[in-house]
Amino acid sequence: MLLPVIMAGGTGSRLWPLSRELYPKQFISLHGQHSMLQETVNRLTGVEARAPLVICNEEHRFLVAEQLRQINKLSHNIILEPVGRNTAPAIALAAINAIEQGDDPVLLVLAADHVIENRAAFHQAIATATQYAKQGHLVTFGIVPTGPETGYGYIHRGAQIADAKDAPFGVQRFVEKPNLKTAEDYLASGEYYWNSGMFMFRAKRYLQELEKFRPDILDACRRAMAGVQEGQDFINIDKEDFIACPDESVDYAVMEQTDAAVVVPLDAGWSDVGSWSALWEVNEKDAAGNSLKGDTFLHNTKNCYINSEDQLVAAIGVENLVIVNTKDAVLVARKDQVQDVKRVVEFLKSEC
Ligand code: GDD
Ligand code: MG
Repeated sequence: MLLPVIMAGGTGSRLWPLSRELYPKQFISLHGQHSMLQETVNRLTGVEARAPLVICNEEHRFLVAEQLRQINKLSHNIILEPVGRNTAPAIALAAINAIEQGDDPVLLVLAADHVIENRAAFHQAIATATQYAKQGHLVTFGIVPTGPETGYGYIHRGAQIADAKDAPFGVQRFVEKPNLKTAEDYLASGEYYWNSGMFMFRAKRYLQELEKFRPDILDACRRAMAGVQEGQDFINIDKEDFIACPDESVDYAVMEQTDAAVVVPLDAGWSDVGSWSALWEVNEKDAAGNSLKGDTFLHNTKNCYINSEDQLVAAIGVENLVIVNTKDAVLVARKDQVQDVKRVVEFLKSEC
């Protein structure tokens, strides 16, 4: 049966100051009542699958366990990373762990920080992808783009790989986070999808491809998993071995290199709530296009995202701004420049 693997170890630095190292965005409720992690799990209701395997930083173990418990999910399938080494190693740990349980399941690899409005369309895409993943393809879900976003990777699709109407497309090329001009050209061509960062493949197939392109990553992950003890509440991997693992995303390490990649299109109201503007897009807005959370007073204010934790924020005569007010920090940014919020985090890190 399908094994959902939820990657929840990112830092979400573009959603500063709400998303912090101690409390990154996947554990916050930004859209809807549940946290993004909980939404990710709940979105699978109706899909025939095992209990999800979550991979996160060890600092977040109680947060993850508690959030899973709140939605009545088992909390003993949690792999803890002593440090973040990006998604290629995280998925390798999950694949190794799954194979050690004695079989070779199809992994449904999900990010913990996505919004998907149309569950039925998502489930349909999973059903299609499962067939092809079982055959040995490395499936990625390609989002039909709605704008020249520069915060996403792009997939240049090839020809459909079978006659069926819903058959996946081959992949000509992945391009990680292009500049605006390139993104505009891609959109105009109609041949590109956004890389959703969600994948499906058999556990062994992933490890085979990882071994081909990044044996160093596979080695480090195998070593880190070697001493894992059965029956613990959390799956604790070896710190030294994992620190020695190279840092690389699954996109760069495997998906961009492999000949076996195919793309299943997904048109389901998907968003990586990767930035404040993306969050503004998916949230409900008032008649003037403002998305508001907390205590606010507005006058002549349009198309803003305003989120205040516990103080009144008053905005007068402003447009297209993001204003986020927390206990210890305030962000004011133009909505079209919020990709650069990560610079604040870089700056703060360099200070300490
Ligand atoms: N366990 C674990 N460990 N999870 C991680 C780590 C890690 O070291 N690093 C990131 N993740 C998780 C994040 O929490 C998130 O759920 C997911 O993996 C993707 O990581 P991001 O850091 O959010 O990646 P991104 O948004 O910049 O880019 C990726 O996703 C885009 C779509 O959301 C790429 O795949 C892009 O091509 C893609 O368009
Ligand atoms: Mg992301």
